[in-house]
Amino acid sequence: MNHADLVGLLRDGITARGGKWADLGAGEGAFTLALADLLGPGAHITAVDRDRGSLRQLVEQMGRRFPQTGLDAVVADFTRPLELAELDGVVMANSLHFVREKRPVLANVRSLLRPGGSLIVVEYGSDRGNPWVPHPFSYPRWEQMAADAGFERTRILGTVPSRYLGSIYSAITFAPRPM
Ligand SMILES: C[S@@+](CC[C@H](N)C(=O)[O-])C[C@H]1O[C@@H](n2cnc3c(N)ncnc32)[C@H](O)[C@@H]1O
Repeated sequence: MNHADLVGLLRDGITARGGKWADLGAGEGAFTLALADLLGPGAHITAVDRDRGSLRQLVEQMGRRFPQTGLDAVVADFTRPLELAELDGVVMANSLHFVREKRPVLANVRSLLRPGGSLIVVEYGSDRGNPWVPHPFSYPRWEQMAADAGFERTRILGTVPSRYLGSIYSAITFAPRPM
């Protein structure tokens, strides 16, 4: 997928420019760059990954292509508590499928978001894993998982064909707003 494809997967989930976002399992930053493109200058993104080398590449690319986006690169395990709060949004692209027991991670992620904040996942459209993608989840399963974790208004944003596991989808879900 090229940059335009990645932007296309996120586009309908980004309704406001700027704001405070995190990309969990950001890797070398393919989706961080897409997010920066959509959020525009003045946004702030915290990119989290346990792989320091990948984050180094991400920082270099972001500095070159989106220097006006605020960026923190944090080497951390996103299954552990993170020092982030009141985020407008979180992206988890091809990263949640490394976690078998997703419920506690989703509870953590929910607690990082402001009320009404959004979580965008990008994931393979399959419930059957392999050694490289151990625990993927199809969109119907994601709808249920997100609801079980207390998210609301889950909907699919886009789908693209993939050589691996058939397809990749993006979906958005929201932390509840107070009644
Ligand atoms: C397949 S890559 C996806 C990278 C990027 N999001 C993308 O779509 O191009 C998965 C990334 O998640 C990171 N990752 C997996 N489990 C993690 C965890 N528990 N904490 C932090 N990073 C994790 C890996 O280090 C890797 O960089």
